[in-house]
Amino acid sequence: MKLSYLFVAILSAGIFLACHSSKSATTSSSSSTSGSGSSTASSSSAAPSTETLVNIAKSKWPDITAATINEGKDLYQSGACTGCHGPKNITKRSAEEWPGIIDRMATKAKISDTQKDAVLKYVLAMKMANP
Ligand code: HEC
Repeated sequence: MKLSYLFVAILSAGIFLACHSSKSATTSSSSSTSGSGSSTASSSSAAPSTETLVNIAKSKWPDITAATINEGKDLYQSGACTGCHGPKNITKRSAEEWPGIIDRMATKAKISDTQKDAVLKYVLAMKMANP
């Protein structure tokens, strides 16, 4: 009596585990499918290529070139803008806030107007790529 109860318990635990593992296998395989899809998307949204940024930026500044985007990116990610702090999270500030912040920081960083313009365009293109 007690033994058969135990048997049923083991059996149902086995069924539960079987269901559970097949369920989690389905979940993980579907998430890895969407994961690989979104990893392309997230890697491009985390760090969009210069080409992507230039194409996006062209909607706002038709004459923009990869040189400007790269200049802005270098200043922002590893150049003058990292003299006092690391690269700040671009998505955390709104497109409306950025021009004022960059004006203020450009003075601190002592960069030229051309460099400031490049940083602003890089940041705003990043915002458009990943709002
Ligand atoms: C001379 C040092 C210095 C340099 C160079 C510098 N920053 Fe800053 N930055 C600071 C300090 C200090 C703060 C925090 C106080 C503040 O907000 O003024 C700050 C804050 C910030 C913030 C957060 C501001 C907010 O209101 O959320 C951003 C974004 C930022 N910096 C971006 C930049 C960019 C872009 C550049 C390059 C153009 C740059 N910084 C260059 C010193 C610097």
